[in-house]
Amino acid sequence: MPSLIEILTQSEHFLKSKGILAARLDAELLLSQLLRYNRLSLYLHLNDNMEGHLLSQFQHMVSRRGSREPLQYIVGEVDFHGLSIAVDRNVLIPRHETEELVDIIISRFGNRPIGSILDLGTGSGAIGLALAKHFPKANVLAVDTSQNALLTAQKNAIRNRMANIRFMVSDWLENVDGIFDMIISNPPYLTDKEFENVQDEIKKFEPKCALVAKNNGLADIFKIISTTGRSLAKDGVLALETGSFQHESIASFAKNYFGKFESMDDLSGKNRFVFLQNNTKFRLPSDINDSTLPLSFN
Ligand SMILES: C[S@@+](CC[C@H](N)C(=O)[O-])C[C@H]1O[C@@H](n2cnc3c(N)ncnc32)[C@H](O)[C@@H]1O
Repeated sequence: MPSLIEILTQSEHFLKSKGILAARLDAELLLSQLLRYNRLSLYLHLNDNMEGHLLSQFQHMVSRRGSREPLQYIVGEVDFHGLSIAVDRNVLIPRHETEELVDIIISRFGNRPIGSILDLGTGSGAIGLALAKHFPKANVLAVDTSQNALLTAQKNAIRNRMANIRFMVSDWLENVDGIFDMIISNPPYLTDKEFENVQDEIKKFEPKCALVAKNNGLADIFKIISTTGRSLAKDGVLALETGSFQHESIASFAKNYFGKFESMDDLSGKNRFVFLQNNTKFRLPSDINDSTLPLSFN
């Protein structure tokens, strides 16, 4: 029977040959997951031998990674803001930038009496669950068009023992009733062209409908901005994660619906988050001066 160190070395070579940059780290993380060790325990057991049935399970995991499946789908979970979030191919893997959005919201609004929060396009439930944890008195509603994503999100609520969140199928706000102090969304915002250039891990394995939007990546953002007004409390805030080249177009579009627009960068210095406040009355498309609509909007 081979030792763990021998298996790790072989797996590292295999993953490198498949173009995986962090080959050693990925092999160690997969082995730690399989053996239920943390990485320190793994290092302490490197000379142990591996039993045959575990070896074949590990080879299967490494071959999945070799085909560029994201590590997080193979391991089946990610840490998001201190929560263990199960992920599968029905949901986008929550990103670090999205944790930054949650951090900003907590630092800005953490002391306010927030009673209701709406997470639009919840996917794995990451944003809604992190906010449900940090605003335990708030009622959180999390929606998505994908029934399968909502099943995963629901499991994540149970997994993290979160009772102040509920889930619903909705095409953005279509089935949503009620007024919310805060509406948050990380909607699809990539252009088709950007999607063509993403790494295989994303292109082949993550749900395209969670990533790409029409109208140069802006269609879903515009839909949300133009329809959230009627569901937002006076002084409520709409917070969005966006693409890094979209803020000018968003600012121009949003002035039809909100009095205050704020663009914020992520930690890498890219325009990434938009905060909208002071919603004017909910406007029908006929109220809007056509000249303010972007030409390509449909
Ligand atoms: C970028 S992912 C964000 C997932 C999760 N909120 C996160 O930040 O990790 C966008 C999510 O929006 C959902 N979505 C796409 N179109 C939608 C629509 N018309 N109405 C509601 N949700 C939608 C997708 O299914 C996906 O879960």
